[in-house]
Amino acid sequence: LNLALLFGGASAEREVSILSGTQVLNALDKDRFIVRCYDPKIDIPRLVHDAPNIDVAVVMLHGEYGEDGRIQGLLDMLDIPYQGSGVLGSAVSMSKLASKQLYEQAGIKTPPYRVVSPDNRHEAANLADQVGYPLFVKPCMGGSSIGMSLVKGPADLDKALDAGFAEDPVLLLEACVTGVEITGAVLGNDELEALPLIEIVPGEEFAFFEYGAKYEAGKSEEICPARISEEGAQKAMDLSKQAHKALFCKGYSRTDMILDKDGALHVLETNTIPGMTANSLLPKAAKVAGMDFTALMSRLVDLALE
Ligand code: DAL
Ligand code: MG
Repeated sequence: LNLALLFGGASAEREVSILSGTQVLNALDKDRFIVRCYDPKIDIPRLVHDAPNIDVAVVMLHGEYGEDGRIQGLLDMLDIPYQGSGVLGSAVSMSKLASKQLYEQAGIKTPPYRVVSPDNRHEAANLADQVGYPLFVKPCMGGSSIGMSLVKGPADLDKALDAGFAEDPVLLLEACVTGVEITGAVLGNDELEALPLIEIVPGEEFAFFEYGAKYEAGKSEEICPARISEEGAQKAMDLSKQAHKALFCKGYSRTDMILDKDGALHVLETNTIPGMTANSLLPKAAKVAGMDFTALMSRLVDLALE
């Protein structure tokens, strides 16, 4: 099969995408695939030109243009199948606000939040009081924790808003739910399979699972399977499937959540193109399930072609 591997791109997560794409390039089964690489930042004309000879695309782009439905729309128009979610699932999952609205409609618990944009920034302190401290400031369409802050009290709010607005005109003030942070990956089209859960323990020098904690080797502990009760694990795996369906995802996704001390689960977000770097979570979960990186990539391609 002729496979187009897309990585790089123009989002704030470009560097992460290059790490993901490089790992995927190494892992793809070369007996099965002839791989050509494209960086959408410069290579869209070449991709369109080569389209008649491309059987399948693997999109290893994170964030804007690559994970938000835009490149998926282009591939649909070129009639090239690709792994993972289509335009709708990608777009709603990219927006933390649209995701929360869909989770709530599906009866999935998600931490309380308020929305701040330049229009209502003057009310941000009030909105933050309504959410309560500590809280997270999150760019609505962000990823990899870029532009995100943990705000401990009112004195730190303004600086966090500035950092958030540098990434996105729409920010969420989200309650900080304490508990065990876990992530649940699912694989499949009609029949969804949940992979073993991963428990995330950010290094002590980090305020939360922030950029450095995510991508610097050895900075955080990722424990798979998560050290939680069997009942809690079953619930979290089911919830990962529910979240995937509620956001119209396809093929695979990875849902991040918090298990609080009362055993309740709170969904934070669903990633439609989860990181595939050497330190990333989905490849670890797949490995524990007995699927090495090469097998995982083949499976994703098979699901794209189903
Ligand atoms: N947004 C990063 C790549 C992740 O979900 O792993
Ligand atoms: Mg994310």
